[in-house]
Amino acid sequence: MSPDNRFLFAKCPAGHATAVVGLQWGDEGKGKAIDLLAPGYQAVVRYNGGANAGHSVVIAGKRHALHLIPSGVFHPGVAAIIGNGVVVDPEALIREMDALAASGIDLSGLKVSANAHVVLPYHKQEDALRERLLTGVVGGESIGTTKRGIGPAYSDKASRSGAVRMGDLIRPEVLRRIIERVVPVKNAMLRALDPEAEPIDAGAILAAAAAWGARLAPHLTDSTSLVQDLMDAGGRVLIEGANATLLDLDHGTFPFVTSSNCSALGVCAGSGIAPKRLSRVIGVAKAYCTRVGGGPFPTEQNNADGDRIRERGREYGTTTGRPRRCGWLDLVALRYAVRLNDADGIALTLLDVLSGFKELAVCVAYEINGKRTDRFVPDAETLSHARPVYERLPGFDGDISGVRRFTDLPDSARGYVEFIERFAGAPINLIGVGPDRTQTIIREG
Ligand code: IMP
Repeated sequence: MSPDNRFLFAKCPAGHATAVVGLQWGDEGKGKAIDLLAPGYQAVVRYNGGANAGHSVVIAGKRHALHLIPSGVFHPGVAAIIGNGVVVDPEALIREMDALAASGIDLSGLKVSANAHVVLPYHKQEDALRERLLTGVVGGESIGTTKRGIGPAYSDKASRSGAVRMGDLIRPEVLRRIIERVVPVKNAMLRALDPEAEPIDAGAILAAAAAWGARLAPHLTDSTSLVQDLMDAGGRVLIEGANATLLDLDHGTFPFVTSSNCSALGVCAGSGIAPKRLSRVIGVAKAYCTRVGGGPFPTEQNNADGDRIRERGREYGTTTGRPRRCGWLDLVALRYAVRLNDADGIALTLLDVLSGFKELAVCVAYEINGKRTDRFVPDAETLSHARPVYERLPGFDGDISGVRRFTDLPDSARGYVEFIERFAGAPINLIGVGPDRTQTIIREG
């Protein structure tokens, strides 16, 4: 660990956990923050979502894209744990393991909760069919999901009967009973959604599951006890959020959200960590906003400014490759997310992308049906009528990717950062000025 970043985790007491969560609509750069923090922890745990997430970490110029495996995997001696709240696509997980192994990454510390639910091929089929059929029904647009089967897998979890957990992959008789019972139901449902839908074959699923089980067996575990044992022995646990607060099933811009509680509020249920053991929350936010898929985005810039942010920030999805919608920083939404998570600090990423703008607009209020408000509204219908009220701050120029000390940033870049922390109500402790793990300014706040 470098002496500079010791403070970031020194504030997490022994036997406790720190959570890193996204404060916007995802893709904030959580992977890099986790990667920086991981050396001070004994384990990194994912608690929500599935292969819909995309975390990229650049190490020595090589970009590693992770969807399911926690970003802590790059640190030898740190356990990388996929918790019970994750929905795991075994095919995607094995692909990711193979790619990491080919890069020489040691996977012996990878553990997967036996109680995490399995995303099966029919979940992905259903996700894609629903998206196609529901276009025009939900708020006039489809949700724009990643089609990774996330919603259908969580629906089966909530429905209980017919749901498959990772531990079932190594219990062939139990799995056979579930699959043989559920496949006729799934076939009827898929046919109802699309008479041309390819029927599912129970035998093919069981054969694939047997292969997944054989490969993943050494990694399956009771992750709740594992994490509790680590903390009882004085270990610190880093929690890796996937997706982000404004996509939280209960607190995001419903219905344009994902199917899990991806704010810090979901950490305990999704990892087995008791609320009193979660003592630090670090929120990650971009210096601007992006969104992938449908849903309201008051500060979206469908113009040259948005295009410039997209190109400079390489704002194309890690998971789907879709161009991200880009816009100015929404401070009303950011303050809402800081408060909901009770974030102790903010990691502000991609500040370098904003270099070269003459002025930087930040949204400080909305006008909704003629009334001004500075409160965020986590409801898509209402938020779709919000007109942003902007404050314009002076922009900055030049390449800041080599800056490592806050005081070395241009005056107006510092002013921008200080304006954000005042408005959002949490200190900005870490500033990203480039994709590499070293391109970071650490600041005590
Ligand atoms: P789902 O999670 O695939 O069901 O997609 C629901 C919504 O969340 C869609 O708008 C997705 O684009 C969005 N979403 C899900 N995960 C992420 C993420 O990690 N980053 C950005 N958007 C995401």
